[in-house]
Amino acid sequence: MKIKNICCIGAGYVGGPTMAVIAQKCPEIDVTVVDINKERIAAWNDEDVENIPIYEPGLSAVVKEARGRNLFFSTDVDAAIDKADMIFISVNTPTKTYGIGKGMAADLKYIELCARQIARVSKNDKIVVEKSTLPVRTAEALKNILDNTGNGVNYQILSNPEFLAEGTAVDDLMNPDRVLIGGDIDTPEGKEAVEALVDVYAHWVPRERLLTTNVWSSELSKLTANAFLAQRVSSINAMSELCEKTGADVNEVAKAVGMDSRIGPKFLKSSVGFGGSCFQKDILNLVYISKSFGLNEVADYWEQVILMNDHQKRRFAAKIVQTLFNTVSGKKIALLGWAFKKDTNDTRESAAIYVADYLLNEQAEIVVYDPKVKTEQIYADLDYLNTRSSEENRARVKVVNTPYEATKDAHAVAVLTEWDEFIALDWKKIYEEMLKPAFLFDGRRLLERKTKEEIGFEFYAIGS
Ligand code: NAD
Ligand code: UDX
Repeated sequence: MKIKNICCIGAGYVGGPTMAVIAQKCPEIDVTVVDINKERIAAWNDEDVENIPIYEPGLSAVVKEARGRNLFFSTDVDAAIDKADMIFISVNTPTKTYGIGKGMAADLKYIELCARQIARVSKNDKIVVEKSTLPVRTAEALKNILDNTGNGVNYQILSNPEFLAEGTAVDDLMNPDRVLIGGDIDTPEGKEAVEALVDVYAHWVPRERLLTTNVWSSELSKLTANAFLAQRVSSINAMSELCEKTGADVNEVAKAVGMDSRIGPKFLKSSVGFGGSCFQKDILNLVYISKSFGLNEVADYWEQVILMNDHQKRRFAAKIVQTLFNTVSGKKIALLGWAFKKDTNDTRESAAIYVADYLLNEQAEIVVYDPKVKTEQIYADLDYLNTRSSEENRARVKVVNTPYEATKDAHAVAVLTEWDEFIALDWKKIYEEMLKPAFLFDGRRLLERKTKEEIGFEFYAIGS
């Protein structure tokens, strides 16, 4: 079966880039990305392709090539579902904020709404692809909803989790380590559906990287991959604290252990803590699932990855307070970077939010500079924590357009995102314009200690 029309529900960080790449690589397939968020769709359709809602290196060029040819963005969800022979569900699956499983389980209400809408609208057979990250066995619930509409439509459900990382999404999509497709491979219809999706990816991904499994393995592999990745970061961050007490240097330790081919060098960069929309949410979900099966040891094991990460963020903020003579009350602290990592404008779960909140509780005056994050997003992130009123956040946090505005007259500067441009700042000028002693806290191991100390900074870096 050849796919001619794809619909993707959810035009976010995953749906947008993923579909843009599919459309670029498969010019004979029409790809329509739909969303209920009108502003988001309008931004994807903005005449100036630089105004698309997601910043990712290389993405605007891909969108420019395919948009209007075979890539479309629309708010007409029903029409896109009706036309499609394959429907990707790529909506958000955040941690539940209410009821049973609050703070742990994934909130599947958006997924269920999609399933009900697909069931209501569909008139011919569809392949429904789980692109969102979902708890293992969600496909069962989806199938239940879809199969109980009595309109004679047959559905095949596939799991095709996305492994792209933000900031490198286009590269990751163009050249993935693997593409995972889970399906009902024991039935001819299931096999056919899997093959249809394999054929889409085979336009540009070598066959040996297209991995097919049963649905449950695919769903669980995504949670497992994120748990393993986050665990590496928490592991090296745990060692960073020990390094600071012992005179070891966490970069040297990471290099030494990473050269063991069984361990490998990637994902061993100590930091102020991992952020992003996935790691915390997916591990909490894994913990919740494990607990729901009574697997308390498994749950506790993975929960520790989150506890370590929370500790790392708190520890970094506390270090600032302690170093500034145990008080930051009324002191200006410049935060360089707000995004959860470089090369993205995404701030979800960014360590910067928590560091700022901690310092605000200590009555600091915060000034933020980030090259890609919008001012309103920064306030929205702080308001979301509900620690203080929105007015107070606006009064105590200033967002500026240049790093030098942020650092002028500051008591301390903290680097919270590893943007390349921070390396090449005029650190001498920054030093001269700061209050003395001028404290510099590197939460990303981005800056060179020697040159900063020569300028005169009191320099602290995570893990040494
Ligand atoms: P996102 O919040 O950026 O985008 C989701 C979009 O879905 C939103 O624009 C929302 O308006 C839309 N939506 C929600 N319900 C809808 C409905 N009923 N009809 C139409 N549109 C609807 O989220 P994201 O970062 O793209 O993540 C999507 C999924 O992919 C999540 O499950 C996430 O865990 C997973 N994932 C994310 C990443 C990542 O790097 N962000 C990577 C891999 C997997
Ligand atoms: C992650 C997974 O990598 C990706 O496969 C999945 O699809 C979505 O979740 P993402 O969150 O976009 O991707 O970025 P990632 O590069 O994994 O970084 C996550 C966080 O960990 C960032 O805050 C980053 O700064 C931090 N990190 C990463 C470290 O602190 N040290 C490292 O060595 C690596």
